[in-house]
Amino acid sequence: MLINSKRFLERLEKINNLKINYKSIGINRIALTKEDKRSRDLIIYWMQSIKLKIKIDNLGNIFGFHNYSNKTKPLLIGSHIDSVKNGGKYDGALGVVGALEVIQTLIEKNKIEESIGLAVFTNEEGVRFAPDMMGSWSFTKRENIKKIHQIKDFNNVTIKEALKKINYLGKERQLFFKPKSFLELHIEQGPILYNNKKEIGIVTGVQAITWLKICLFGKSNHAGTTPLKNRYDPMIVFGKINNYINSLSTEKNNQLITIGSINVQPNQINVIANKVEFSVDMRNPKNEKLNKVEQKIKKEIKKICIQNNIKFSIKKLVKFTSVKFDNKINNTIKYHAKKLKYSNMNLFSGAGHDAQMLAKICPTSMIFVPSRKGISHDKREYTKNQDLFKGVNLLYCVAKDLLNN
Ligand code: GLV
Ligand code: MN
Ligand code: MN
Repeated sequence: MLINSKRFLERLEKINNLKINYKSIGINRIALTKEDKRSRDLIIYWMQSIKLKIKIDNLGNIFGFHNYSNKTKPLLIGSHIDSVKNGGKYDGALGVVGALEVIQTLIEKNKIEESIGLAVFTNEEGVRFAPDMMGSWSFTKRENIKKIHQIKDFNNVTIKEALKKINYLGKERQLFFKPKSFLELHIEQGPILYNNKKEIGIVTGVQAITWLKICLFGKSNHAGTTPLKNRYDPMIVFGKINNYINSLSTEKNNQLITIGSINVQPNQINVIANKVEFSVDMRNPKNEKLNKVEQKIKKEIKKICIQNNIKFSIKKLVKFTSVKFDNKINNTIKYHAKKLKYSNMNLFSGAGHDAQMLAKICPTSMIFVPSRKGISHDKREYTKNQDLFKGVNLLYCVAKDLLNN
């Protein structure tokens, strides 16, 4: 190993604060909470210990540079540290702690004159504030910052307020520097590498993502007295929509649709609901196919709601198109994986990633390591230490190569 695997592993454990009853509740580092702040502070402390120049932008994205100047275009490596609720210890954190290890090793072992930076992007998961990949989306200037600052969580807290509360509303503007290239190390979060017994995934791209929020409005009334003909029950309509939506998930079309969250009001056993709010997460490698499915769903919701006298609203929370990663970088990853004798394969990412946003502004790619049994977004998420080390070691070799070329 060229990297210091012991140091890397100790930091990964520290970031994850494993004393906190991890086995039963997993990682809860939701964006811009005090747990997120704790890990941000720790990363900054480590970055300062190797004299990186710290910059924080107006969405709380953290950057730490070696050899930074206004004129240079740094090679950027990194990921995110926010997690889903009860998530795993590698999703995001691996890419950040791994990138820190790579930069520290580069500084210790080489005389690097080029500029390199570590990126920690805000709110990649999007479970508190939508869209997901928000930090990298904002950094790459895909939306006006004033609009982004007004996005609210379930408790009506704006992202700007949340950033201020944890003291991470930085001064740097969107795209205050242009990276030369971007590289992200991540667990695969799916079963392809595990099933194929490969140590490394070379990521060719990321599929398209659409998120919808749907509200069905009914009228509350007594569960024991209201005749069927007098009911406006959005739960019945939800059931029909749920069945329809799930029938559209097909392997043939590579179409995945998930209803992962539902909120019922007033949520009482003997009261007909007056509101059902639910999310739809849709993914497809092909943008056109995803657009078609979205139209189908909207049409069917309208039909079912009209038939059942239920009012509804549909809000689009996310629409990110599919992206392809840089071939040249992928050839470099392949070259080094082969040299290090790490078994590898090309694959397309099912999960969304910050690299998906960066790919719009600079040559970008990702390195995946296997997830045991393909499990992720759950406390059972697991990757063997040896696989983690290989991922970081490969990231080191590729970064060194990209710095010189
Ligand atoms: C990010 O984790 C996603 O939802 O794919
Ligand atoms: Mn992630
Ligand atoms: Mn995730």
